Amino acid sequence: MADRKKMSVAEILAAARAEKAEAAAGEAATQASDAAPATEDAAPATEVAKPAAAKPAAKPAVGKDGGRPSVAEIMKLARQKSAGEAAAAEKPVVKPAAKAAAAKPAAAKAVEKPAAKMAPLQRDTASILAAARSGSKPGPTSKADAPASALPKPKPAGKAKAPPRPVPPKPTRPTVAAKPATTDRRGFLSIAMGSFMAVGFTALSVTGGLFSLGLARFLFPNVLAEPPSRFKVGFKEAFPAGKVETKFVAQYGVWVVNSEIGGEEQIYALKTVCTHLGCTPNWLEAEQKFKCPCHGSGFYKDGVNFEGPAPRPLERYAIQISDDGQLEVDKSRTFQEELGQWADSASFVTA
Ligand code: FES
Repeated sequence: MADRKKMSVAEILAAARAEKAEAAAGEAATQASDAAPATEDAAPATEVAKPAAAKPAAKPAVGKDGGRPSVAEIMKLARQKSAGEAAAAEKPVVKPAAKAAAAKPAAAKAVEKPAAKMAPLQRDTASILAAARSGSKPGPTSKADAPASALPKPKPAGKAKAPPRPVPPKPTRPTVAAKPATTDRRGFLSIAMGSFMAVGFTALSVTGGLFSLGLARFLFPNVLAEPPSRFKVGFKEAFPAGKVETKFVAQYGVWVVNSEIGGEEQIYALKTVCTHLGCTPNWLEAEQKFKCPCHGSGFYKDGVNFEGPAPRPLERYAIQISDDGQLEVDKSRTFQEELGQWADSASFVTA
């Protein structure tokens, strides 16, 4: 049924025409092969046709009143005649054919063939469709009824698997181009704020570092490396008579002098501090005196002041001969002339 529904009208008409053409071809073949029986069977066919054709002719052509028939009666008779002819054309085809089929199977074909010839040729669409539907084979109503060709072909068991389909590469994400540096107001403000913050943090870091350094210096102050108060200046031979040694001024602030004091040659150590205001006088070898550059005070070789504002003579440090024979100066002790301390033997060494 599904195939019928799918067939279009044109296909149905074509199938009906093809079927008719096949029927005509088969009829021609059977006529050629069955020529003799057909002639034999023609007699019954004609005999069958006779009663049908004789029925209307047997009726009398008279009117109801036994006179001449009216037009209506003539028309009625004509219609009955035509109807009888039609019935005679249909009825003898079946009945004699059935009888002939019981007697001779081959005679049935001869009977049916004239009947088919006598059937009117119906050309309307309904008759064509009916003929096509009656002649077409019904389609399969289930999977079991379907032909093997219509079923899907099973896959061979030993067939190797199809190679995996190549996976297309994933599309690469388009790289986003770096945005150019924004020069708008917002960008400028962000850069400015970042710069200010960077400068502020840098300044804060520097300040913190300096503060930490100062705190460390405060907690751990430098210790002045003052020269020791006792130091050796060499042997006596290094200080000849009348000599003023100035090489210890810068390091120890001491002149080592070999001079005659009270008829006795002594070696003593003078303090290089002016008794006026504390300046350091200079030894003038040509003038054989100590001259203070600050206010002009002058001192002799033995340290006694003779000019300028200096109020008193220079002071002496203690000096002695050490264990190794060298002269050793001790700055922890001083001797003042106005106090008569120069007479102390600790204030000089006899040369
Ligand atoms: Fe030496 Fe004034 S300090 S004269």
